[in-house]
Amino acid sequence: MLLLHGPNLNLLGEREPEVYGTATLDDHVGEARRAAAVAGMTLEHLQSNAEADLVEAIHGARGRCAAIVVNPGALTHYAWSLHDALAAFGGVKIELHLSNPNRREAWRHTSVVAPVVDASLVGLGADGYPLAIDAVRRLLARRAAPAATSPAASP
Ligand code: DQA
Repeated sequence: MLLLHGPNLNLLGEREPEVYGTATLDDHVGEARRAAAVAGMTLEHLQSNAEADLVEAIHGARGRCAAIVVNPGALTHYAWSLHDALAAFGGVKIELHLSNPNRREAWRHTSVVAPVVDASLVGLGADGYPLAIDAVRRLLARRAAPAATSPAASP
């Protein structure tokens, strides 16, 4: 699976700790990697401050990665290129945010990626990483065994 982080998330630990906590990006990626290993998955990670790098990474995951967990940072709120790239990715997709953007400034209330992901996890801080990995595991299992699908997964 692929874990993606967008702009400014390389500054986690230093950047607005009252909003994003004191853990670094490496801390979060390490936690995610451990959770993925427990779930029997390998995890690739990319952080970039450039929208194009994230689009390319999503393209590169097509047909190769089972799932993407993405925190697009501020690109969440306006990067339609990420919306389109994620729409073209057939695997499981989870949007993840450390803070709850819906409780913050009005411009953060719109997510242009939300309509093309399976689920969005917001406001859980560091706990969001293992929870997102568990969500990936469950959604992949659901895809592998459609008969066991819960009503919530029906169209
Ligand atoms: C964020 C929320 C975004 O609004 C913000 O621009 C970020 C971080 C989060 O993880 O809470 O950079 O994606």
